[in-house]
Amino acid sequence: MPVTGTLPEELTGRYFRNGPNPLPGQDPGHWFTGHGMIHGLRLRDGRAEWYRNRWVRTREFTDSAPFLGPNGIDLTAVAANTSVVQHAGRILALVENGLPYEMTPELDTVGPWDFGGRLTTAMTAHPKQDPVTGELHFFGYGFFAPYLTYHRLSATGELVDSRVVDVPGPTMIHDFAITENHVVWLDLPVVFDMDLVGRGMPYRWDDSYGARLGVMDRGGRVTWFEVDPCYVFHVGNAREDAAGRVVLDAARYSPGAFAETWSHIGGSANPAAGADGARLHRWVLDPASGAVREEQLDDRVVEFPTFNEDRLGRTSRFLYTVSSDAVVKYDAVTGVGRTRDLGARPGEAVFVPASGARSEDDGWLLSIVTDHAGEGSELLVLGAADLDHVASVRLPRRVPAGFHGSWIADR
Ligand SMILES: [Fe+2]
Repeated sequence: MPVTGTLPEELTGRYFRNGPNPLPGQDPGHWFTGHGMIHGLRLRDGRAEWYRNRWVRTREFTDSAPFLGPNGIDLTAVAANTSVVQHAGRILALVENGLPYEMTPELDTVGPWDFGGRLTTAMTAHPKQDPVTGELHFFGYGFFAPYLTYHRLSATGELVDSRVVDVPGPTMIHDFAITENHVVWLDLPVVFDMDLVGRGMPYRWDDSYGARLGVMDRGGRVTWFEVDPCYVFHVGNAREDAAGRVVLDAARYSPGAFAETWSHIGGSANPAAGADGARLHRWVLDPASGAVREEQLDDRVVEFPTFNEDRLGRTSRFLYTVSSDAVVKYDAVTGVGRTRDLGARPGEAVFVPASGARSEDDGWLLSIVTDHAGEGSELLVLGAADLDHVASVRLPRRVPAGFHGSWIADR
């Protein structure tokens, strides 16, 4: 495939990115509900060997099976459109209302995967792998009680822990965080509404629900913190500080910003076109005293925070985000946010560490970028340290705006 610049030989593996791609002629009514399609690139020894796209062949896709039918919920009748991760040798396409779908490295669909029958809830599209233990922490949430269940996989992919977490009602819980010893929950006022079923995403803002963050310890005890009403799709990193407090960084939507964004992505407008959106915030949560401090870190509208996941749950310095036409890199030590304008619309920028990295930001950012006319796309590789252009791989066709991807290195 045509490459501008020089692809690092070390980037040998696959970049997969999931997102909604409705069938031709279909209007799912909401950006979040189109059929999942994985766009994949194979990079090897400085060359881009292939690009391909494949739908995730779920029961919803192949059989038009209903998610909510007369027999209840079918966790395999889902779009599987939100992220794609590898853990314990399995490549999983994820969406938060259903079971994972296992994919091959060539992007064929193997089928739904319930961890040998042990997973009986949905699985979030944002699991967190502990970089030290290799365990995968995740959760499932749903319309009906129990609304929230925490799960943990061993490093070898066995589901070894599942426990219900008490929350007052069914809310949309898109993401969560872990630290070395804790799990951080976001129970925010975007609630399930049965009247909206069948009309896109059945969730709406509810002032009466309140907004709470929770810190859960290893024993499953949760300390809840009331916070100003807001919504969070995506967290950055979280950590424990020397005083035992939990520090969480996230892209936070004010109630007004959420309303504007939710109306955009529920309609036919370009989802990147909304003027208002999320801004980087930090919460400091003290389980010992019950105190919570909240602070906005920057006024730029950004989304899709990523970082060097070798530091997941631990202190990290750099956070990468995207805005409507730029990559924004934050430095927690200097407090500076640096914008790299692209003149085109980036998707999530995945951080890939260099082997033998000498610093946290020694590596690359991979993002599928689409021009403003929505006609041409490329895989952009930036140096993560300075945000300089390293390489671009021209893709044979437009890639629609999507969600999350992973770099899956050859072993
Ligand atoms: Fe997400």
